[in-house]
Amino acid sequence: MTKVGIIGAGRLGSIVREAIEQGKAPECELVGVASRSLGVSAQDLIDRGASIIIEASKPDALKEQLIGILEQGVSVIPLSTGAFADAEFLEKTREAARRSGARVYLPHGAEGGFDLAATFSLIPGMKGTVVQYIPERSKMPDGNPMKALPESFKGTALEGFALSPSHLNVVIETSIACGGFENTFYETRIPADGKGGFALELENDAAAAEIRIVNKPPKDGIPMMSVIALSAVSTLNRVTQPVTF
Ligand SMILES: NC(=O)c1ccc[n+]([C@@H]2O[C@H](COP(=O)([O-])OP(=O)(O)OC[C@H]3O[C@@H](n4cnc5c(N)ncnc54)[C@H](O)[C@@H]3O)[C@@H](O)[C@H]2O)c1
Repeated sequence: MTKVGIIGAGRLGSIVREAIEQGKAPECELVGVASRSLGVSAQDLIDRGASIIIEASKPDALKEQLIGILEQGVSVIPLSTGAFADAEFLEKTREAARRSGARVYLPHGAEGGFDLAATFSLIPGMKGTVVQYIPERSKMPDGNPMKALPESFKGTALEGFALSPSHLNVVIETSIACGGFENTFYETRIPADGKGGFALELENDAAAAEIRIVNKPPKDGIPMMSVIALSAVSTLNRVTQPVTF
């Protein structure tokens, strides 16, 4: 069994914890959750034998802790991927992972199709676009971060991320899956079918593809947030299961 720890006991961290406790990561055993209120640190998780840590805290907390964790040979599945918009931090992360052999495994978050994006990026002419479909802006309560986004924005991934760094982590992890920030873009659109969510449009000199995730109204208390949180658990399975993809 692979010993796993979680940093962060908020919305995403709690869904991840529950999923592992329910056996949704069958090759893994949870050694604990690092949380300031519980008085448990990431180092405590490592001391309990964790070899993989799922991070669900804040980009600043990830920046503070990631290199030190990797240097101890412990791999990380980060959800606060906005931290990697800082190119210097991304490079330091790569160097620490190369030195120790530990790895950073990016989950797909609110997007999908990272396997296809990675293949497409090996072919000339690669362009990836994160499309955010924003419906019925007028009906959104004030304070909803989507309401503040421009209606028909088109820009580079980093320009898009800068519009709302706390809510657009997905643009950063998708850019890395697409092979880099220079060939990845971000757009907001009003959906013709009225359905909100994200799409990933991929194109190169050989082929084109579109993967769209449509948000549904929460049913039986299962929110869209579950997809984001459970992308960390499916990533955990991908790197721990004996037969994987
Ligand atoms: N990758 C994606 O697609 C994606 C999507 C949504 C959210 N996120 C990111 O995932 C992270 C978690 O989101 P959330 O909705 O669960 O947030 P949340 O605010 O509900 O929970 C975050 C928790 O982390 C704790 N925390 C902060 N600093 C910490 C530290 N140093 N050590 C331990 N715990 C610490 C906070 O006290 C809080 O309980 C955020 O950074 C968010 O921006 C990523």
